Amino acid sequence: MPDLDLPQRQAPDALMLTGFWYRALPADRVHRNELYKATLLEIPLVIGRDRLGQPFALRDACPHRGMPLNCGRFDGENLECGYHGWQFDVHNGQCQLIPSLTADQNLKVDRIYAGSYSCEEQDSFIWVFIPDQGTPGAGFAPRTEASEPAPQIEKFSGKYRSAYLQAEMPVSIDHGIIGLMDPAHGPFVHQAWWWRTQHSMHEKKKNFEPIPNGFRMSAHTPSSNSAPYKLLRLYADADAITTTIDFVLPNIRTETIRAGKYWFSSLTTVTPITRSHCRIDVVAAWNLFRWVPFVPELLKFVFAKFVEQDRRTMELQAEGLKHNPHLMLIDDADRPAKWYFQLKAAHLEAKRTGAEMKHPMAGAVTLKWRS
Ligand code: FES
Ligand SMILES: [Fe+2]
Repeated sequence: MPDLDLPQRQAPDALMLTGFWYRALPADRVHRNELYKATLLEIPLVIGRDRLGQPFALRDACPHRGMPLNCGRFDGENLECGYHGWQFDVHNGQCQLIPSLTADQNLKVDRIYAGSYSCEEQDSFIWVFIPDQGTPGAGFAPRTEASEPAPQIEKFSGKYRSAYLQAEMPVSIDHGIIGLMDPAHGPFVHQAWWWRTQHSMHEKKKNFEPIPNGFRMSAHTPSSNSAPYKLLRLYADADAITTTIDFVLPNIRTETIRAGKYWFSSLTTVTPITRSHCRIDVVAAWNLFRWVPFVPELLKFVFAKFVEQDRRTMELQAEGLKHNPHLMLIDDADRPAKWYFQLKAAHLEAKRTGAEMKHPMAGAVTLKWRS
């Protein structure tokens, strides 16, 4: 019997994990004293920067009668709801003023909060922490703070360049993520005459090991048909180049390629917007070719092409998924996808019981596939 699993066998509520940081908007699109709408895990948000440039995120619904706060007025410090003029501090959601109150009415205004989220700017994005307990604040309590800072790209020198790319996909977070870690689609989805063709397919063997909340493709010499590798060979001996790829819950893939003092690092996330839509954001940083004109543009072009090919594929896949087909995960090519579902289940189980998370991998594993 082949070992098959049905990835759809997930409790629908398990689709989007709370208690984590998520990328909300690219930082360069959020200007001071203005308001922007965003959605994360089906939560409507209003995002902005105060007059000093500090970002903030509030639930986009007034705690009074639900008016979207993005329609209000923002003076760079407080946000005034467009319906009855209640004012809120944008950083903690605390109510500052209720204009309808008369001098002898002693409602405690400062005990009222608009929903407010921990918010940080990190590596080209505004990140928002989505806590476990429903809407933070939004009523009579201040928010719960994130227990750790937002994820960062690993960098190995002071000077570097960086760029980001985004693509929205009409599939659930799960399909977005397993599409990202799937090693077998490369020769079919990403073929191009200047890149690789189905004829360059060959057997690959990679070692994986468990890491907290995820798994790692252990440091290895990158596959000869990978893009950064082809470029890196201009800088270093083939065997001096190593790459490490990690996946950690809820949605983070990091890749680090090093060749002597040169490095290329990326942090890719697949963010649940709604149950049926996700967005992929790739941020890369590197210290190679900083001084060479056009190379960063070329690299961005190659990555944009890749992301677009993935986006287009998932758009087509969404058509098929409407009809709820049976899905299969096969060994070894889909084993990372299986680990993803198992990690997610283990994470939820640990939360439910309060016990420590039981990692689905007992130890290092070697996987083989052709791509
Ligand atoms: S709905 Fe916002 S002040 Fe009334
Ligand atoms: Fe891909």
